[in-house]
Amino acid sequence: MRPIQFSSGDYAVDRRAGVAAAMAHAQDFAAAAEVMAGALELAPHWTAGWQLLGDYYAHAGEAGRATAAYRQVQTLDHDGIFGATLTLAAHGEAPPPVGTDVRYVETLFDEYAGRFEQELLDDLGYAVPPVLGRMVSDALGGRPVARAVDLGCGTGLMGAVIRPLCARLEGVDLSQRMLAKAQRKGIYDRLEQAELVTFLSGDAGGIELLTAADVIIYCGTLPPVLAVALRAMAPGGLFGFSLELHEGTGTLLQRRQLRYAHNPAEAAAECEAAGFEVVTTERMGIRRERDVPVDGLVLLVRKPSDQPSAASSAA
Ligand SMILES: C[S@@+](CC[C@H](N)C(=O)[O-])C[C@H]1O[C@@H](n2cnc3c(N)ncnc32)[C@H](O)[C@@H]1O
Repeated sequence: MRPIQFSSGDYAVDRRAGVAAAMAHAQDFAAAAEVMAGALELAPHWTAGWQLLGDYYAHAGEAGRATAAYRQVQTLDHDGIFGATLTLAAHGEAPPPVGTDVRYVETLFDEYAGRFEQELLDDLGYAVPPVLGRMVSDALGGRPVARAVDLGCGTGLMGAVIRPLCARLEGVDLSQRMLAKAQRKGIYDRLEQAELVTFLSGDAGGIELLTAADVIIYCGTLPPVLAVALRAMAPGGLFGFSLELHEGTGTLLQRRQLRYAHNPAEAAAECEAAGFEVVTTERMGIRRERDVPVDGLVLLVRKPSDQPSAASSAA
């Protein structure tokens, strides 16, 4: 999912870029890069063009030239919407940004909102909400939740599943267009455009249920999210979230697709180190990518009943 494919504003350049795209489609990435490099001589300030050139070089195995093109994106992209730092980090050429790359994620999902549900459900077989919903429902055992917050709520796919379990349901997301889709469904009592760590840091506390379905994959390391979640939750509260997995060494892997993957054993250990009890975990294919299931983990963790919430500890 590459977000921005703006026109260069020059018909001749766009035509050359079209030829390059056709070559890339035919898997001839070296030829695509050559044509695109020629096009960029005519439009050197076309940021999306440099992004494409970097991708073509990367696919052609020309790592040095790919990096140079991505650095050009970083220089030209004053609003940070192309996620150049993430891209460079994914190629081992820069340290990853700390936390979510907010402008990149916001732009990505604003652009994606119109086709999100159809692509995710029909084409990619997205499967987290029913699984996480069942885990939450089993853990609650019929006990209703007074206040729940769906982090990275998107268009409301997760919210729709947990709505019957909660008296009050709030949704938080970076993307205004995703929130607009959620608003139309009338599932949430309140929707807020915010970064989730910032939102939780400012919350007065007492949240009994937190969900983050297919969201932490954009946030990087878990501990900063867990720390603010624990503080904002009521004693005994539940936090359910999904991760993409990697089985290699290290806690975190940044994928070329600009999403993060976590090591399953280390993720559970990080939850415990943050002060949560692991209630249950379930391994699953969370969606498909090029027809291959993406290996994922859904975790449900609980804040211990004897830990105070932010509201009561501040009192
Ligand atoms: C793949 S969608 C999942 C949406 C929804 N949870 C679902 O299950 O359909 C990821 C959503 O998380 C949001 N998001 C990612 N990182 C975020 C962050 N740090 N704070 C708030 N929202 C975030 C994106 O804007 C996007 O709408």
